[in-house]
Amino acid sequence: MRAITIPEPGGPEALVWSEVPDPEPGPGEVVVDVRASAVNRADLLQRQGHYPPPPGASAYPGLECAGVIGALGPDVTGWRVGQEVCALLAGGGYAERVAVPAGQLLPVPAGVDPVDAAALPEVACTVWSNVVRLAGLGAGETLLVHGGGSGIGTFAIQLGAALGATVVATARKTKHRVLRELGAAHTVDYREQDFVEEVRRVTEGRGADVILDIMGASYLGRNVAALATGGRLVVIGMQGGRKGELDLGALLAKRGTVAATALRSRPVAEKAEIVRGVREQVWPLIEAGRIRPIVDRRLPMSRAAEAHQLCETSEHVGKVLLTTG
Ligand SMILES: NC(=O)c1ccc[n+]([C@@H]2O[C@H](COP(=O)([O-])OP(=O)(O)OC[C@H]3O[C@@H](n4cnc5c(N)ncnc54)[C@H](OP(=O)(O)O)[C@@H]3O)[C@@H](O)[C@H]2O)c1
Repeated sequence: MRAITIPEPGGPEALVWSEVPDPEPGPGEVVVDVRASAVNRADLLQRQGHYPPPPGASAYPGLECAGVIGALGPDVTGWRVGQEVCALLAGGGYAERVAVPAGQLLPVPAGVDPVDAAALPEVACTVWSNVVRLAGLGAGETLLVHGGGSGIGTFAIQLGAALGATVVATARKTKHRVLRELGAAHTVDYREQDFVEEVRRVTEGRGADVILDIMGASYLGRNVAALATGGRLVVIGMQGGRKGELDLGALLAKRGTVAATALRSRPVAEKAEIVRGVREQVWPLIEAGRIRPIVDRRLPMSRAAEAHQLCETSEHVGKVLLTTG
């Protein structure tokens, strides 16, 4: 088969479409014939040599895919060859075939294009596990989503709105119209406006009950300032740095919580549990048309370098797909 390899870390040109050995399904695994994968921010870091795959994961990039089951390994039940699926991966999605633990498979939701389904697993699992399972977002609460135009952000806005929360999203101005269409009640141009002031203004001084943050250090103080009493800040990205100063007095006064998580490095059993929760709670919202995959564009996998260049400029909205067909 062919896969994107990274012989030497570097710029987008480091991604090479190469002949490689086919994967074999181990016990409890299936091999998916990949129709599409999707670019995640983590892939850019992996290409640069800053985010090595966890032990045992494929060396090729790609944290999700959609395709058709091509082979079943020993001890797999409940799935059949030829079934259309999408999957959460620890790596290896940028390839024509990938082996994946069966617990990380999801059926293609009814009504979703089987290629566009590649845009769903990573964002659905990340957003649901953090915003719903960890932070417990409830109807009537306010959710602040940073990077509303990202793959993660476009999903978080839709999920928050579908759950009955009021969603506030930060993004560059040109993305605001789309984010409103996706369900953001308020949009903040983080380049021109102070998001703390805006969140306070639209919540009549209360603040955000849940914040999904991708910036890390550079937003830590302001995120705590934007929290409501009893608010939950969940950090999933460090685009603004990893070491910040936390004012515990400010957090304590609000009885607030700060959490940080990563999905990729979780054990297979934990991923399977998250996938199960997503299938039970999020898939019905997708099948009801309340949430849809947001695909900026599709590019052939052989042009992965171009896709990475685009994602580095952040001009995309939602996900950039890489297709094999
Ligand atoms: N921990 C986990 O398990 C996990 C899993 C998946 C993703 N993530 C993280 O989630 C983040 C999003 O991932 P992705 O693949 O969806 O990214 P992406 O599509 O590449 O988007 C990155 C976004 O960052 C936004 N941004 C840049 N500077 C900003 C600022 N100062 N304030 C607000 N937004 C800003 C950009 O928006 P503008 O165009 O508006 O500037 C862009 O939409 C990444 O940091 C990624 O590492 C974490």
